[in-house]
Amino acid sequence: MFVFNTAKQYNKYYTGEEKSTYSLKFPNIIFQNKVILSKLLKNLRKQDKIKILDFGCGNGRHLYFLLKKVQKLQNKKAVEIICYEISVTGLKTCQSILIKNNFKIISNQKTSDTYKTKKGYCLTKLKKGNIVVKLIHGYEYDNVRNLTNLIGKVDITLCLFGVLSHIHKNRKDYLLLFKNITTQYIFISVPSGNTYKEEQICYKVIRNQQELYPGIEVLKEGDIFVCKNINDKNRVSYYYHIYTKERLKKELEEAGLLNNEIGIICTKKLAPLTRNQILGIYDYIKAKIYSKILPDKCFDKAGFIYSVSKVSKT
Ligand SMILES: C[S@@+](CC[C@H](N)C(=O)[O-])C[C@H]1O[C@@H](n2cnc3c(N)ncnc32)[C@H](O)[C@@H]1O
Repeated sequence: MFVFNTAKQYNKYYTGEEKSTYSLKFPNIIFQNKVILSKLLKNLRKQDKIKILDFGCGNGRHLYFLLKKVQKLQNKKAVEIICYEISVTGLKTCQSILIKNNFKIISNQKTSDTYKTKKGYCLTKLKKGNIVVKLIHGYEYDNVRNLTNLIGKVDITLCLFGVLSHIHKNRKDYLLLFKNITTQYIFISVPSGNTYKEEQICYKVIRNQQELYPGIEVLKEGDIFVCKNINDKNRVSYYYHIYTKERLKKELEEAGLLNNEIGIICTKKLAPLTRNQILGIYDYIKAKIYSKILPDKCFDKAGFIYSVSKVSKT
């Protein structure tokens, strides 16, 4: 069984805050996400309190978009954004940018004395006006059930840009967690056929010859490993699960999420689309059309696909 330290890999990616390899590669959020997030927030317009979870928030790309949006909301609503991440460097970037934007730390606690032995969580709360941001540092191989109480109920859960794809064994537990704590919408985006094409071909061959590689019999359809240079000094490696529309639908349904809209986020590789707004808008239109006209099987042509699950209150 392989064990990756995904947090350590992303720490390398996020080092350098706004000048990190990650920030330079993906400086903005993808246009399609802006549209979906704006729509979801609009649905919460009438509520006095809004609570959003950004699960696997990374360096906070979506957090900053959300902050800009909620600051514009009328009636001074109470807003809480919870950012959960396993990369401490990603969370430190979130914290330092919040502080630069006049947020003040109002509490800083560790949930247990055994934090140093990696059994507790580190929680930092920051506040500005009516907006509270809670940063939670968690662990990759921890018991997901611990998170239910720690996070509490939220209106919207975001799990964006392949976070779910890094989870190897128990993706269903995470989806169940999202289902249990979310009262309205769960927005997920995951990589599809047009992402890491070479690795996909390579691992397809390996899967077909599995008897030659006894150590990797755990690899299921869609599973790949990625190992690449991210800059002159650093190389990262991680596990990644590439989705088809059918596989995403099946995993959502197995977790009891039945009310799902599934579509294409982008047709091309994501990085250039986050750097060039015009390219981003052009690809957004293409993705919208593809989502409508392509049969399910052809969603493999997509770079990333998304689901918005409406949680039914029973
Ligand atoms: C491609 S990044 C996406 C980050 C962010 N959502 C964004 O859109 O920029 C994937 C993130 O998933 C995080 N991640 C991987 N496994 C995780 C886990 N088990 N729990 C929480 N986050 C995880 C990584 O640390 C990394 O920050």
